[in-house]
Amino acid sequence: QEQQEEGIRPHRFADYIGQKDLKDVLEIAIKAAQSRSEVLDHLLLYGPPGLGKTTMAMILASEMGVNYKITSLFIDEIHRLSRMTEEILYPAMEDYRLDITVGKGSSARIRSIPLSKFTLVGATTRVGALTSPLRDRFGLVQKLRFYEVEEMTQIIQRTAQLLQTPMTIDGATEIARRSRGTPRIGNRLLRRVRD
Ligand code: ADE
Repeated sequence: QEQQEEGIRPHRFADYIGQKDLKDVLEIAIKAAQSRSEVLDHLLLYGPPGLGKTTMAMILASEMGVNYKITSLFIDEIHRLSRMTEEILYPAMEDYRLDITVGKGSSARIRSIPLSKFTLVGATTRVGALTSPLRDRFGLVQKLRFYEVEEMTQIIQRTAQLLQTPMTIDGATEIARRSRGTPRIGNRLLRRVRD
């Protein structure tokens, strides 16, 4: 499934249809970070599956990478992290350092390793399942919403073009109406209709 999605994923904001509120917020945040030569704040994306959280994370990395060498880390299903991993993330997110315990027993020492500044992008379908200390460390917390039929129609038309499948507007609208506002579902229906 991931492989199938790869060829049709938009790679730039300009190609990403819908989620206008989210795009507006992110475009401002990106411009501001770039103008100050800073990294983008850690970003938590949440919402139902199939709406484009992973796609948005990839777009962010490439949009930020145009002028600045910036590292970003993407963690999908971030609500599933273990307690221990979460606790390693706290100082990494806040102060860009890794605190690692070296040795055992009475000779155990914490070594602090500085990290390059980075942006953590977390994605989750269950924002309520995140612990609040983790959630509070994201400067940007943004929700993805279901797509309108008009937006879904555009997405279906775009994907049909990439798959080199002729498609009328009426045809695209029919598929869009059956997609439950979810591009992953619409694009899957499109493939079946094409076959
Ligand atoms: N394919 C899947 N989701 C999309 C989106 N939001 N915009 C454009 N193409 C897409």
